Amino acid sequence: MSRPILVFDSGVGGLSVVAALRHRLPGAALAYLCDNAMLPYGTKPDDWLVTRIADVCCAAVTASNASALVVACNTASTLALRELRARLNIPVIGTVPAIKPAAMATQSATFGLLATSATVRRPYTDALIGDFAAHCHIVRVAADSLVTQAERKLRGEAVDIAEITHALSPFWTVAELDTVVLGCTHFPLLRDELNACAPRRITWIDSGDAIARRVAQVMIDVAPAKTVESAWSSAPTPALAKVLAAYGFASLEPLPPLPTSSPLP
Ligand code: DGL
Repeated sequence: MSRPILVFDSGVGGLSVVAALRHRLPGAALAYLCDNAMLPYGTKPDDWLVTRIADVCCAAVTASNASALVVACNTASTLALRELRARLNIPVIGTVPAIKPAAMATQSATFGLLATSATVRRPYTDALIGDFAAHCHIVRVAADSLVTQAERKLRGEAVDIAEITHALSPFWTVAELDTVVLGCTHFPLLRDELNACAPRRITWIDSGDAIARRVAQVMIDVAPAKTVESAWSSAPTPALAKVLAAYGFASLEPLPPLPTSSPLP
């Protein structure tokens, strides 16, 4: 039986990475995991998240017999990659905010970082900025509400344009800003709305293709796509199953029971 590459996010944001993977590795079998019972991750305590992410991913790697795990979530990757690599004996490929490409793309050495409140304040993000963009002025904007908007959009529900306009407003006070890092995998799903809400031309940079390139390097033998690709969720619903089916995941299963059932503090 072919072993799929498992793509993980708190919600549907990882589907922006699935699209990049399908483009670069069209023959690869994928599986999808979302911990939507605990969405959003960006506002949860770090210690709790590390345990939760490791438990959820380990359970789904076993259930899917995955050959690799793609953590298609900045909020999880900037926190839990070490724990995941310690607990899993398959390759784990993470997502990090595209600070380096943005520092190379900006013409004015001034760019924005649009991410969850967790990602904008993480030491991991500070280190990336120190390594690759120390010469740049960076406007960090936490926009957890846009995670909800992306979830709504994919379910065919109305998106609140006023909310997006409000979230982006800190960027427009800095005249030189010409580039924005989409440091949350949910945000590329709102690209049309982001463009519509921007008062000037902006280069939006996400990590999707960089992750797909990394997966292609790491996975020399990818399993060919099966007829049925599956997804796992901590709170499966018919609406979520419909979204996942549109991305090729024909079956949606509930996650098996987790070893640690620690309640949110
Ligand atoms: N899609 C996730 C990310 O890339 C975050 C969504 C959440 O806060 O749960 O950071």
